[in-house]
Amino acid sequence: MKYILAPLAGFTDAPFRLMCQEGGADLTYTEMVSAAALAHTHGPTRHLMETLPGEGPVACQIFGANEDEIALATRIVSALKDDAGRPRFCEINLNAGCPMQKVTKCGAGATLVKDPAKVHRLLKAMVANTDLPVTLKTRLGPHPQATTAFELLDAAETAGAKGIAFHARYTSQLHGGPLHLNVLADLVSRAHIPVAGNGSVTDAATAAVMAQTGVSAILLGRATLANPAIFNQLKAAFQPSELPNPPAPPNPPEPSLSLCERHLAYVLAFREQLAAKFPEDHVPSVDGFASVKMHTHLFRYFNGRPGAAALRARLNAVRTLAEIREIIKAGNS
Ligand SMILES: Cc1cc2nc3c(=O)[nH]c(=O)nc-3n(C[C@H](O)[C@H](O)[C@H](O)COP(=O)(O)O)c2cc1C
Repeated sequence: MKYILAPLAGFTDAPFRLMCQEGGADLTYTEMVSAAALAHTHGPTRHLMETLPGEGPVACQIFGANEDEIALATRIVSALKDDAGRPRFCEINLNAGCPMQKVTKCGAGATLVKDPAKVHRLLKAMVANTDLPVTLKTRLGPHPQATTAFELLDAAETAGAKGIAFHARYTSQLHGGPLHLNVLADLVSRAHIPVAGNGSVTDAATAAVMAQTGVSAILLGRATLANPAIFNQLKAAFQPSELPNPPAPPNPPEPSLSLCERHLAYVLAFREQLAAKFPEDHVPSVDGFASVKMHTHLFRYFNGRPGAAALRARLNAVRTLAEIREIIKAGNS
């Protein structure tokens, strides 16, 4: 079983991906990148496609609804290289599942769940414009009375996609409600390409249930945010060959505040990299950058600790790196 960090807009930047790779992720995804923005503008969009030295395999996810923009974005992503001159990404993925209005109103993301023929055209445009493997991330259909997943699978296969990931929910469910693992298992049994499963896997028990569908990989999203080491914990706890035995208890997790310090160090390294590489772009000050990243990630490392609420409140109010460091130190003592 492969364990993969799912794309999470606003979260799966290079520092967090590196944390997850160190925590055992076999593959990570960038945040979704707008094909229209890539095709027509420069600037901050390219920050989303930056990787840090030492990152393992990263897939770049794009979203869009226009074939020409998707084709151009695919060429741009495919041409990016890492420091050693190798392709920066190991895969390029089309988002056909995001329910956010700013994405769906342009006909992208979850709008595509309703239109497998269009998904086919977009994927074909990607395949024709890259040597990288092209994959699709999608849902089961717009709502439980309209399952389009089998048509989406067919669209992906006939367009030449090399894999497909299903969030085992319908668009109408957003990110909650029951998973439809029977549909996922059916999809796996019909597929000719690898199928990955996604949705509310938070521990070895939920991973074991998802694994029973026969998926070749599991994407983890929200459960990684406070615990980027979850991938190694799952690997240690759960071997598919052990089914149907109950999973073993996970390894003791690393103290979360040392993770927090490491994450902050990667955030700072990432800011340095952006500032050095894109001097013409606006990159926030060290204090501003650290504060923004701290607001989305670092407070989660305090979950469950004595005094966590007070520490989190202090983190919310801080505006400088020195203050963030003080709070982490206070949390450690
Ligand atoms: C804050 C947030 C941002 C997300 N951003 C993306 C995204 O950029 N691309 C995408 O395909 N899915 C995105 N998703 C969906 C996740 O990748 C995943 O499918 C969903 O959270 C279910 O998995 P989970 O229960 O393990 O979190 C996002 C979800 C959340 C909660």
